[in-house]
Amino acid sequence: MEKSIAVLKGDGIGPEVINQALHVLDAIASKYNHTFNYKEELIGAIGIIESDSPLPDKTLKTCKASDAIFLGAIGDPMFDNNPYAKIRPEQGLLKLRKSLELYANIRPVKIFDSLKHLSPLKSERLENVDLVIYRELTGGIYFGEKIKEDKYSADLCCYEVFEIERIAKMAFNEAMRRNKKLCLIDKANVLETSRLWRQVVQEMALSYPEVEVDYLFIDNAAMQMIINPSQFDVIVTSNMFGDIISDEASVLGGSIGLLPSASYGKEYKMYEPVHGSYPQAKGKNIANPIAAILSAEMMLRDFGMIEEANDIATAVKKTIEENIVTSDLDPTSDFRCSDVGNAVTNFINESVNELV
Ligand code: IPM
Ligand code: MG
Repeated sequence: MEKSIAVLKGDGIGPEVINQALHVLDAIASKYNHTFNYKEELIGAIGIIESDSPLPDKTLKTCKASDAIFLGAIGDPMFDNNPYAKIRPEQGLLKLRKSLELYANIRPVKIFDSLKHLSPLKSERLENVDLVIYRELTGGIYFGEKIKEDKYSADLCCYEVFEIERIAKMAFNEAMRRNKKLCLIDKANVLETSRLWRQVVQEMALSYPEVEVDYLFIDNAAMQMIINPSQFDVIVTSNMFGDIISDEASVLGGSIGLLPSASYGKEYKMYEPVHGSYPQAKGKNIANPIAAILSAEMMLRDFGMIEEANDIATAVKKTIEENIVTSDLDPTSDFRCSDVGNAVTNFINESVNELV
């Protein structure tokens, strides 16, 4: 198979982790006789610096012309600490999501058995934790009207029924494929938009009688995620709540450096690690590339390359079990980002030898 992939390495540790994921993809390509054509483009702070825009037109054009988009990370302290900055790296990501109408962001959370001891939670609380978050990605408070005056600012949170319906439907369908449990996280005791979410989800639930639907307020859900995370199967939620709860859920397994994500719209698909740009680690070769590598796995699965994706999953598992991990997973480890990438690649190549 031949696939074109827009590669947006972005800022901070983005380039390092994406490079490792590309090595892994190259190993898969040669093992299974595929061709992956990568086209690199700018986004984020590097876009602003090198081309005056956090999302240059050329980047958007390449993304639209590709089979998939593979993104590293966005953000730079140079802008974070300056509330007066008119152009910000994050605008590039938000504009990309909006322009490609990537309305559903899927963030699966699985726990590696061999890493349970790293979780901030006691091991017994991690039994049977396997959940997936469906976060709405192109609406809500992120994209509502913004007002900025001298002594007053506002961010409007708005949702239309169709925006809720399309992601809720995806989440219900996912629940049907999994354990048939869906939880809507909102703040319906306070917010009008949350009441609309409830209304839409309640109506849709009638068409999915097998799915057990639960409703939690975001404050309670944040607590439940810590005291009893195994109660969750599929979570569906709005843009802002999904942003927050997914960071919380991401550390259940010990490190945010393990979590991949995929974003879907009608036409386009994008894959990116959940972690951010981690500027303190930039260029040091110490970042964990697993989240980026698992994002590549999600991409292959969507290409229909199931055996190839399983191969990556197995190689990652072996790498972690052999304790070839970066220091976020083991502070005594001397292994670096590229060592982890090489280990995953070697496990994939070794299994070629097993075949012949
Ligand atoms: C994420 C990030 C982004 C978001 C930032 C970088 C704009 O936190 O993908 O979760 O808030 O959506
Ligand atoms: Mg976030």
